[in-house]
Amino acid sequence: MKKSLSYLWPLTKKFESHYSGKLEVTWINGRKVLDSANANYSYGALQEVLDRGLAEIRADREAPVLLLGLGGGSAVPLLRNKYGYYGKVTAVELDKAIIEIAINEFGIEAHQPLALICEDAELYVKSTTEEFGLIIIDLFIDLQVPEQFFSIEFWKNIAGLLKPGGKVLFNAGVNSAHDEQINYLLKSDILGIHFRKKEDVYRSNTLLIGERS
Ligand SMILES: C[S@@+](CC[C@H](N)C(=O)[O-])C[C@H]1O[C@@H](n2cnc3c(N)ncnc32)[C@H](O)[C@@H]1O
Repeated sequence: MKKSLSYLWPLTKKFESHYSGKLEVTWINGRKVLDSANANYSYGALQEVLDRGLAEIRADREAPVLLLGLGGGSAVPLLRNKYGYYGKVTAVELDKAIIEIAINEFGIEAHQPLALICEDAELYVKSTTEEFGLIIIDLFIDLQVPEQFFSIEFWKNIAGLLKPGGKVLFNAGVNSAHDEQINYLLKSDILGIHFRKKEDVYRSNTLLIGERS
């Protein structure tokens, strides 16, 4: 019923997040999306951006996947239903309120095997001993990627968690917001991750696609 009515006018539920401020879950044109004040966090444009990156990545579909930044979890049905990844997905999310939205509004727990971890991604990559075939880094507070996710230390930790031949998809910024940090990262020697940059994805985002040699 809500889905049908959403073709006539959007239906919105509001949530408050300690980290991201006001969040909205909206049924619009038969689809449910999660938005912060200025950005689409899940489903909607964000999912289109991730889809265009995943379409260019050939990773081991059986190997575990790490998703840093859960939001409503729109990457997970893409991985499972469109690209056929069937290994365990570990999703790390700082914000408990957002994990609850992913569970209660977007049914994320249907996509097993799945581990949902409420932790700062920067700390998680320092301490975990698991290895992954694909790591998706999709960490935003509203429109900004927090500064620490461009640091060499963070990327060395990421390199250490990738299986040989493992792939990385980094949603690195909207428009030219982080150009300087992205170019610095591309010039740095990060333990054998080779990157290529894909700009203006869905007319807005910059993606870095990386492979560990
Ligand atoms: C664009 S949303 C992620 C969307 C998601 N990947 C999807 O598939 O729909 C960005 C997320 O990054 C999370 N985030 C921001 N900083 C973080 C941090 N330090 N550690 C973990 N998550 C963080 C935000 O709370 C937000 O849920």
